[in-house]
Formats: sequence, C-alpha cells, structure tokens
Amino acid sequence: MTASHLDETRAGYDSVADLYADLFSTAYLDMPFDLGMINAFGRLARDAGPVADLGCGPGHLTAHLRSLGCDAFGADVSAEMIRIARAAHPGVRFDHAPMTEVDVADGALGGVLAWYSIIHAPVQDVPGLLAAFHRMLAPGGHLLLGFFVSDTGEPVPFDHKVAPATRWPIDTLAGLTAEAGFTEVARQRREPAEGERHRQGHLLVRKSVQEGEADAV
Ligand SMILES: C[S@@+](CC[C@H](N)C(=O)[O-])C[C@H]1O[C@@H](n2cnc3c(N)ncnc32)[C@H](O)[C@@H]1O
Repeated sequence: MTASHLDETRAGYDSVADLYADLFSTAYLDMPFDLGMINAFGRLARDAGPVADLGCGPGHLTAHLRSLGCDAFGADVSAEMIRIARAAHPGVRFDHAPMTEVDVADGALGGVLAWYSIIHAPVQDVPGLLAAFHRMLAPGGHLLLGFFVSDTGEPVPFDHKVAPATRWPIDTLAGLTAEAGFTEVARQRREPAEGERHRQGHLLVRKSVQEGEADAV
C-alpha cells in the first residue's frame, strides 16, 4: 500500500476507534453466517500454527479465535485500535503494524484472517497482499477474507465512512487468491443485515500442502 493511502486509513480509524469498538466488538455474535465462517476457519487453522488477525481493529475476533483454541494474535495499522485491543484483551499479542510488516517467519502461520481489512487496499495492491499472506502461511494453512460484494463484475470504490474502500466481486477475489497459489475451500455471499448497506462476501482458501501441487480431491 502506498504510504499516503496507509496514512489515510490509519488516521481514519484512529479518529473513530472508540466508536467502532462500541458498535462492532460484539455485533459479529448476532451474524450467524459470519460467525459460522469464522468458526470453521478457526477450527481448520488452529492445529497448523499461530493465527494472525490482520487489520484486527479492537481485537474482538482475535479473542474469539483464542476462545476456539487458536494461538491467535492481532495486528493493525491504527495505534488507537491497538490501544483498545490491548486494554480489552490483556496478555494477548497485538502488534501496531501494517499487515505486510508483521513480525512473522515465512511459512509459520496456520491461519490468516483479513476480516474487512483488505477492503481498504488500493485494487492494484491486493495481489501483493495475497502473496504476502501466502508467504506467511504454512503449507495447508488457511486464509479467510471478509469484504463487501460488488455485483458489477468489477471492483468498485464506495463511500466507506472511514477510509477509501473497494467492494469486490467474489469471483475476482477468488481468481486473485488462485493466482497467489491458494485453493478455494468455501465461499458465502449474504444479503445486507439491518443497518448494513451492501452484500457481504466471505472467502476461505487454503495454501497447498506441497508447493506446485493441487490439493488432493
Ligand atoms: C473495517 S475495520 C475491521 C476490523 C476488524 N477486522 C473487524 O472485523 O471488526 C478495518 C481495520 O483494518 C485496519 N487496516 C486497514 N488496512 C490495514 C493495513 N494495511 N495494515 C494493517 N491494518 C489495516 C484498519 O486500521 C481497521 O482497524
């Protein structure tokens, strides 16, 4: 991500962090489809290595993944989000860092969760982010993406209240994950819930066990 884009995202979330935490730290519990996908991801990822919640915001999903038995930690570019996450979840690792600069060895992670966080990346930067997630993951590791859906067939910018953001066609993101070396495991698209403006997409993919080999069928 360009420095100015990252700065804009950081400043946007710093300015709304307390409000965001009040509004969203428990809201996911009332979203059964979202929770189902997050729980499936946690179950699949937890035995393969640590799980990184990248763009963790107030850290509620990091804590939720830990409650599922994942060795989960969070990272976020917003210092205010990290302050709130650390206060709410003492003893849990939360890094103040862009998602591509998290201190983790290549191939070390069992899972990467990017839940409504790559939505703020410029479209041209998303292949690089997916490649970075692939590099961080162990063979067999899982990546779960949450995002707003574009039904136009193209990624489309939209008037996100906090920072510049893009809605993605699920097929386009799935294609980019395949180009990065992932195999699709599951996807869901749901209609906007009360108070939401857009369809929501969730895409679960897996890094092949052996580089260059398709997963067994
Ligand atoms: C819509 S919020 C989602 C927060 C949390 N994942 C959730 O589901 O509530 C997006 C978060 O991603 C963070 N973020 C966006 N781009 C990032 C980047 N490149 N590196 C680290 N954090 C990023 C923002 O600071 C913000 O906290």
